[in-house]
Amino acid sequence: MRLEGALPEWLRGRLIRTGPGLFRVGDVEVEHWFDGYGILYAFELGDRLRFKQRLPRTRALEAAERGKRNVATFASDTKRSLFARIFKPVPEITDNVNVNVVPWRDGAWLAMTESPHHYLVDPETLELRERERFDDRLPATMGMTAHPQLDHTRSAVVNLGTTLGPKSAIVLYRQALGSRARVVEARIPFKRVPYVHSFGLSPKYAVIMDHPFRVNPASMLFSNRAFAKHFRWEPEKGARLLRVDRETGEVTPYDCPPFFCFHVINQFDDGDDVVLDFVGFDDATIVDQLYLPELDRQFPPATARPLRARLRKGHARAELEPLADVRMEFPQVDYARRHGRRYARAWGTAIGHRDGKDSAILRIDLEHGDVAMHDEPGVVFGEPVFVGHPDGAPEEGVILTVGTREGRDESILRVLDAERLEPIATLSIDIALPLGFHGNFARAR
Ligand SMILES: [Fe+2]
Repeated sequence: MRLEGALPEWLRGRLIRTGPGLFRVGDVEVEHWFDGYGILYAFELGDRLRFKQRLPRTRALEAAERGKRNVATFASDTKRSLFARIFKPVPEITDNVNVNVVPWRDGAWLAMTESPHHYLVDPETLELRERERFDDRLPATMGMTAHPQLDHTRSAVVNLGTTLGPKSAIVLYRQALGSRARVVEARIPFKRVPYVHSFGLSPKYAVIMDHPFRVNPASMLFSNRAFAKHFRWEPEKGARLLRVDRETGEVTPYDCPPFFCFHVINQFDDGDDVVLDFVGFDDATIVDQLYLPELDRQFPPATARPLRARLRKGHARAELEPLADVRMEFPQVDYARRHGRRYARAWGTAIGHRDGKDSAILRIDLEHGDVAMHDEPGVVFGEPVFVGHPDGAPEEGVILTVGTREGRDESILRVLDAERLEPIATLSIDIALPLGFHGNFARAR
């Protein structure tokens, strides 16, 4: 690696990220960006600078190496015989780990996609250790989001699970740090189930987005068609934000204009109100734009806007107000110090901001709507990861973001001042890292 500039003395630790890295294995080809076999990579910052990457040995990858496509993924069809489908109407769900990787327990990290299978990862070697085991009675087939949230006030991780079947439901659960038992906070039945990628969490409430991209679970039985292909965009059936009281499990629905969402930015309680900020698309066409033949033509520029919904006590409807006049994805906040609380800064990536090419890192001042931007011609930046200055005020620190130079076997890790987005340092490697999804930074102990 080459280093330009100087890394802050306090910035010591590991950035580990994941994303779809391999789209063809022998004769097996995936159909959608979200289904690429995951690649894990790490930048280690300290007295020594190191880069590591690994293609995790999942069962899904090993099946592909044997020429088989028999596990269910997001949007690539399975190829299972009629006999296999009758014998087992619901296929195995993928154990690919291409969406997120977070520090977990006993020094291990947890790598995941939206499935029942999450893997412990050795952060030193990036090897998968074992599947995460749970000691509770929730169904083993329950898929969980790849965006578990930390509940700072209860020292727990909170997440949503989806169970599909005759009695479909979204389950909000809490898992105390260090425990293997998931405790149900609320179980919400659905006839037509929305696709949930993330959710809002604050001390009093969780907010589940019932956006109108929904599935009738019965349509999936016996089918070789992929998960996402059973979903329908149905704005005529309305959109709702479901406020869940985390003590009582009581659900209060708020009607709202139709939208489609992958990522919540943040949420906070404000007296009896709860405020949910998220990145919203006008509809779900983004899912179709990420099929590989489409991607070969053009990577779709981010069209989603940062939006705010205030769920007021006693009201039945919530409006969606833009937080700033920008288009972005991969939202981030000062998670350690501001998640679930009032906050003033959000960061994101404006993908394709230069005539459909490149991407820029954005910082939004939520009080004044003021925006700062960093970009470089020919570079596609991914998610901005905020790392707080250990002695600084909340939202003071740096942004770490990995960028790929288009058309060259070169990628960079850029360190930006979080407020002004001015470059502090750049690490370069002669490897083309594909645009990934999510990752985290953990300080060296
Ligand atoms: Fe995500």
